[in-house]
Amino acid sequence: MAPKPEYLPAVTYLSHSSFIFTHIFMSGRLRNRVALITGAGSGIGLESSVLFAQEGCHVVLSDVNIDGAKKGAEIIATRYPNVKAIAIKCDVSREQDIKDAVDTAVKEFGRLDIMFNNAGIMHPEDDNALNTEERIWDLTMQINLKGVWWGCKYAILAMRQNPTDDSLGLHTGGSIINTASFVALMGAATPQLAYTASKGAVLAMTRELAMVHAREGIRLNSLCPGPLKTPLLMDFLNTEEKKQRRMVHLPMGRFGEAIEQAKAALFLASDDSSYMTGTDFTVDGGLSSAYVTAIGEFREYGLP
Ligand SMILES: NC(=O)c1ccc[n+]([C@@H]2O[C@H](COP(=O)([O-])OP(=O)(O)OC[C@H]3O[C@@H](n4cnc5c(N)ncnc54)[C@H](O)[C@@H]3O)[C@@H](O)[C@H]2O)c1
Repeated sequence: MAPKPEYLPAVTYLSHSSFIFTHIFMSGRLRNRVALITGAGSGIGLESSVLFAQEGCHVVLSDVNIDGAKKGAEIIATRYPNVKAIAIKCDVSREQDIKDAVDTAVKEFGRLDIMFNNAGIMHPEDDNALNTEERIWDLTMQINLKGVWWGCKYAILAMRQNPTDDSLGLHTGGSIINTASFVALMGAATPQLAYTASKGAVLAMTRELAMVHAREGIRLNSLCPGPLKTPLLMDFLNTEEKKQRRMVHLPMGRFGEAIEQAKAALFLASDDSSYMTGTDFTVDGGLSSAYVTAIGEFREYGLP
């Protein structure tokens, strides 16, 4: 029998457009903290927003898709009335939008402890070196890389100003998590050159910023998810053949779930990871360690 999971996902995707809300209970690993999450309207960002709230965190859910962000804020308001959730529109390809989002967090809650630079795109026209058009390259870099840079920039400025209150477990500094990808660590013969390059740059940038700000109490880590059952990938893999082309390489015999990344993000956000900075934190079901892939019947061990 599969072990009973500690948490259930906020949203269970039945298909790309249909989902159900599931119920979870409250804990306190992020009590009194404030988080800003980009791309919070879907997938990893949505699950992380709800999980962080469950752990006692006030959350600013930002997304270019404001309806998705509002949906997340509503889930939080219903389940966790002790914390506050705000939904705002923020396009991470625009520096002013990110500055405004950080300003909103500080204005509303007086501080910013956690910045989760998670929004990203994988453009359907992204291809190999010969076929990828410059406009696709530039758009991908603008969102996936520049958006993360700006997120780091304004979060660092805010985290330096965070007031310390020992009685509430609050201090100057904070935790910044940047979503990269397993494709930043290994090559794929199904190319998405701009996406891969943008995620590799996120890893390099995050490591360097982690060193620059290590003595300020600001930790920066990258999250490297494996292939997930979220709209970003499932919309891209719109045929069974495309799915199977990937599936054969997945050691566990399944795609990952957004909630499995949210739990890793919670670890990086909380003091549980207090001695970690500059890491490429890989949550990929073993994919980046595989040479000859596991075979055998798929068992639903440990599924959330
Ligand atoms: N799904 C995967 O297989 C996978 C694997 C590795 C890494 N990732 C990364 O994880 C992150 C989250 O992806 P997901 O799987 O949860 O996908 P998702 O499509 O479920 O969510 C992405 C969210 O980002 C938002 N977004 C897109 N462009 C934006 C912009 N310019 N400004 C603000 N928000 C914007 C979308 O509206 C959406 O709500 C991305 O950075 C993605 O590259 C995903």
